[in-house]
Amino acid sequence: MRAVVLVGGFGTRLRPLTTDLPKQMLPILDQPMIEHVVGHLSAHGVDEVVLSLGFLPDAFSDVYPDSCCAGVPLHYAVEPEPLDTAGAIRFAAGDAGIDETFLVLNGDVITDLDVGELVGFHLASGAEGTISLTPVDDPSRYGVVPTDADGRVTGFIEKPPAAEAPCNWINAGTYVFEPSVLQRIEPGCRVSVEREVFPAMADAGTLFGFRSDCYWVDTGTPETYLGVQLDLLDGVRGPARSGVDDAAEVHAGATVRRSVIGAQAVVAEGARVCDSVVMAGSRIGNGAVVDGSLVGCGATVGPDAQVLGLSVVGHRAEVAPGELLDGQRRPEQD
Ligand code: GDD
Ligand code: MG
Repeated sequence: MRAVVLVGGFGTRLRPLTTDLPKQMLPILDQPMIEHVVGHLSAHGVDEVVLSLGFLPDAFSDVYPDSCCAGVPLHYAVEPEPLDTAGAIRFAAGDAGIDETFLVLNGDVITDLDVGELVGFHLASGAEGTISLTPVDDPSRYGVVPTDADGRVTGFIEKPPAAEAPCNWINAGTYVFEPSVLQRIEPGCRVSVEREVFPAMADAGTLFGFRSDCYWVDTGTPETYLGVQLDLLDGVRGPARSGVDDAAEVHAGATVRRSVIGAQAVVAEGARVCDSVVMAGSRIGNGAVVDGSLVGCGATVGPDAQVLGLSVVGHRAEVAPGELLDGQRRPEQD
C-alpha cells in the first residue's frame, strides 16, 4: 500500500526551530522526525511514501537525495503553492498516480497505531474513508469526531471551543481513503480536509472512525515535541533510551538529567541540563542552566545563563552570559 505523508506546513507553533527547517526534519532523539514516521509505516507493510511537500522541500531531498528514507522509496510531490491539507492530498496523489486504496498521514504524528488493523477495519466496513481516532483530555486543539455505535462518523468539528466539543475522541491524523475521495477535492485549489471534505463525507454517511488508545502524540508544539522525546528516555515506549549522543561532550563536572544532548554538543563544567533537548553542535556554557526547554542546532547558551520554562532557542541563536529566558523564544516571535 502507498501512503501520502503531509509535510508541507509552516510549523508556526515550533518557531524559531522551524523558521528554516520543516517540522518533520527536526530531530527526535538522533533521527529526523520523518524517519520515525516512515519507519513505522514500513513496519506495517507500506512500500512507497509520497511526501506532500510545500514549505522548504529541499530540506528533504538534500538529506534523502536517492529518494529513500528508512528503507522506503519516496516520491516527492512539491506543491506550487500551499494548497491546505485536502488540496495537498489531491495534488500529491495525482502527481504519484494513485488510483487504489491509500493511506494519508499528518507527518507530525508519532504513534504506535496498528496501521494494518486500521486498514482491515476500513475494508470490512466498506467505508469511503476511515479516520483513526484517539482520546484526549482537551479536544479543542484538534478535529473532534463523534461516531455512532458502528463507527460511522456523524460529524467533524475542527478545533471547537472546549465547551462545544461533543466528545473527546479526536482525529489522530492517519486516514485510509478510497480513490473516490480525490474526486471530492477541486484540483489546484486550497481545500481543507478537516473543514470541508470530512464534514461533507460525514453528511453523506461514507466516513468511519477507528478508535484506538495506543501511544499517540502530535509533535507540533514545544511541549509535545519535548514530551515525545522524554517519553523515549523514560521508557514509556519500549525500553528506556539514552539521549546523550556518543559524539556529545559532557564535562565531568556538568549535570545532565533526563535530556537529549545531540552530536558534537558541548555541556561545559558546572552546567546543568534537565528535562530538555539540546541539539547537535550547541554549546551550554560554564554554570549555565537549561531546564524543561529546547535548544536548536549550533546555538550558544552563555556561561551562567538560564533557559527555563519551555523556552525555545533557535538554531545558531545566542543567549548572552548570565541572561535569563523563562518561557521565551530566542529570537522572539510575533
Ligand atoms: N503539503 C502540505 N500543504 N502540507 C500541509 C499544509 C499544506 O498546505 N498545511 C499543513 N500541512 C501538513 C503539516 O505539515 C502537518 O504534517 C499536517 O499537514 C497537519 O497540519 P498541522 O498544522 O500539524 O495541523 P494540526 O496539528 O493543527 O491539526 C491536524 O492534526 C490533528 C492531529 O494531529 C488536524 O488534522 C486535526 O484535525 C487533527 O486532530
Ligand atoms: Mg499537527
